[in-house]
Amino acid sequence: MNILIAYATYSSGTQTASEFLMQTLVGMGNTVETKMISEVDFDSTLSYDLRIFATPTWDNDGLEGQPHMDFVSFMKNSTGKNYGGKACAVFGLGDSSYSHFCTAVDILDDFVKKSGGTLVVPSLKIDGYLFNMEGNNKLLSEWAAKLKA
Ligand SMILES: Cc1cc2nc3c(=O)[nH]c(=O)nc-3n(C[C@H](O)[C@H](O)[C@H](O)COP(=O)(O)O)c2cc1C
Repeated sequence: MNILIAYATYSSGTQTASEFLMQTLVGMGNTVETKMISEVDFDSTLSYDLRIFATPTWDNDGLEGQPHMDFVSFMKNSTGKNYGGKACAVFGLGDSSYSHFCTAVDILDDFVKKSGGTLVVPSLKIDGYLFNMEGNNKLLSEWAAKLKA
């Protein structure tokens, strides 16, 4: 498969997790490009077999539980566009000590569905990535195996 991982990050965790996922998927025989969501627009995500969106959950202008601002812009700029059933997947980093744990993932899920995309696997919510990279990379590997299936 030809796969795009489009991510955003504030404190490097989602980038590190995206790079680990890329290496895992390449190891499974896929071709994978990893880009920041700020580098792509909706139309440039269309040419892949699978699009994976990755965001931290954050606090935007006092509003808790939001995706990275660059995803907010991407979604806004994608209004009216349609994936026509194309395959998508979502994972996100968060911290379960916050009351809105990984809710940015739910927001991206809704975006994919409203944009006519198909979520090929249940989305993955990762708790405290940088504090337990080994355990969380295992979760990412298991998730990657489901993407292949
Ligand atoms: C200001 C701030 C707000 C955050 N808000 C939430 C939140 O509402 N829900 C959540 O699950 N995690 C929240 N987090 C935790 C981050 O999502 C988590 O640290 C994540 O790993 C950051 O990913 P990044 O390194 O890619 O930016 C917040 C962290 C900070 C610093």
